[in-house]
Amino acid sequence: MLDKTQRDNVTPFPGNPAAKIAGVSGVAQYGLQPGTTPLLAELAATLQDTLNTCTGHGAAAAAKAALRGYVCDAALLAPVHKQGDNENYKRHLLYASPDGNCTVLALVWLPGQVTPIHGHTAWGAVGVFEGNPFCENYDVSYNDNGAMGLHSKMKMRLQSGDLATVRPGIDDVHRIGNDTQRRAITIHVYGRDLVAEPSSLNIVFGQ
Ligand SMILES: [Fe+2]
Repeated sequence: MLDKTQRDNVTPFPGNPAAKIAGVSGVAQYGLQPGTTPLLAELAATLQDTLNTCTGHGAAAAAKAALRGYVCDAALLAPVHKQGDNENYKRHLLYASPDGNCTVLALVWLPGQVTPIHGHTAWGAVGVFEGNPFCENYDVSYNDNGAMGLHSKMKMRLQSGDLATVRPGIDDVHRIGNDTQRRAITIHVYGRDLVAEPSSLNIVFGQ
């Protein structure tokens, strides 16, 4: 995990207010959200049960395993959770664990939308619900003057059903985006309470 100094330097994605989860409409509430489908409720219950017995990267692996079988099922998301935003990729809060163990989001990527280059302060598990987004991983280095450099080391084309885990800290710096001509949707589980700490997840390294 990041040390306190790194935690204090956590930066929300630019252009989004810190008072709520970036990109999520309205005030976040714990539990299931309006528009939850029966399958999404089942996934949330599965995640909740799974994470009651896991911590750290074990939790990420467990969340990834829990996503399998749900992540590209068309019945998982209601139409309201598939809506994009022409201004920026859209985040939909799907589930916030009342005990703070995890937050589940759907991210909708319209053509051309991409995150900044960023890392996370918590473990995560990600799956592709729809489309072919990309994930590009970066090495972070510092020269003798302390200036940071970002070097792309791998760009992966993802497809429906693909799953991955995310580690906290600078060893897992990446960006996700959609450089195709059709919508993409990804499902994200993070080991962080984004209702209590809405801007605490992302560390932005560059554009
Ligand atoms: Fe990320």
